[in-house]
Amino acid sequence: MTNATAELNLETAPRPAAVHPVGHPIGILAELTHRCPLRCPYCSNPLELERREAELDTATWKRVLSEAAALGVLHVHLSGGEPTARADLVELTAHCAAEGLYTNLITSGVGRAGAMLPALSEAGLDHVQLSFQGAKAETTDRVGGYAGGHAAKLAFAAQVTDLGLPLTVNAVFHRANIHEVEDMIELAIALKARRLEVAHTQYYGWAYANRAALMPARPDVDRSVAIVEEARKRLEGVLVIDMVIPDYYARYPKPCSGGWGRRTLNVTPTGRVLPCHAAESIPGLEFWSVRDHALGDIWRASPAFNAYRGTAWMREPCRSCDRREMDFGGCRCQAMALAGDASLTDPACSKSPFHARVEALATAEAAGIAPDFIYRTIGGMPAGRREGAKP
Ligand code: SF4
Ligand code: FES
Repeated sequence: MTNATAELNLETAPRPAAVHPVGHPIGILAELTHRCPLRCPYCSNPLELERREAELDTATWKRVLSEAAALGVLHVHLSGGEPTARADLVELTAHCAAEGLYTNLITSGVGRAGAMLPALSEAGLDHVQLSFQGAKAETTDRVGGYAGGHAAKLAFAAQVTDLGLPLTVNAVFHRANIHEVEDMIELAIALKARRLEVAHTQYYGWAYANRAALMPARPDVDRSVAIVEEARKRLEGVLVIDMVIPDYYARYPKPCSGGWGRRTLNVTPTGRVLPCHAAESIPGLEFWSVRDHALGDIWRASPAFNAYRGTAWMREPCRSCDRREMDFGGCRCQAMALAGDASLTDPACSKSPFHARVEALATAEAAGIAPDFIYRTIGGMPAGRREGAKP
């Protein structure tokens, strides 16, 4: 996708200048690499994954992390792909610690993650978020496309807690594993996790292309929500359970990224800075790179960050809605994907004219026979599967 050449609809084009006070970001998602041993079909990374040769070098990442600290950022999510695929991860983690940044490693726990963990802990790593693709070995290994992945994750989780690091388990749910929510809660307790994220799939990147293979049925979603609500009460003081709502069956949308250009920024492996992980799916936005600009300049002045900052860009029904400062109109990327215009209300909202159609689409996809997964791979989707999911 070439954002720079896409034609803008002047009537609906986002306003070019900031019309809201620009505060300080509190978090940065450092997508250090797109390389990953796993091949999850629910991955939110773009279909065109970036290659190792194009990644930022160590010195540039250190400069970006120092600029983030100066900008007021508190948390760094060391992410990817699989961040431990970067040989300089220990050095980058130590740099964050020296800058006073809280570091969260977002990892699959396979590959070289276990071998690197003691050094990361020594370097000052603060927290580990470990993904599971299922509560059972056969599910994790099938969804992740990696034989032996589940066993490696169990061993890695034990290493994390043995080192005294706080552990969060993250599990993305969809029709291939939604019957394992109860088991996942039990697994998180057994692994001594402090927190579990029950994340219903968000349909961006590879997940959007795999939507029909992933979409759960409404009754299964409702059951999973009830299980989490019951467990939250029962496990108070033992395990915190967060839940990411299933957008297509939601009543109101999530405040995506805490509001566009409001709290967080994402840096891609090659250095483009995005307001959210899927922002490049919106045509017409101009993203600046850390190779050419200081992070603070990008945050304050880059066209992409100012496009949907605040509420002045909103159209009805968001413009006059009393939730507009709570959810900021939901997700711009989802509005683009499902309604064809990023400045419209997120169709996850029941006030969107597209909402009923989206829910009907989800219901129909969930009722159909699940197609095979298209596994994430560098080099894009295989020939013959390029059309992906259609809105
Ligand atoms: Fe949020 Fe807009 Fe829906 Fe109101 S109309 S709940 S602001 S998405
Ligand atoms: Fe881009 Fe939600 S993923 S605004």
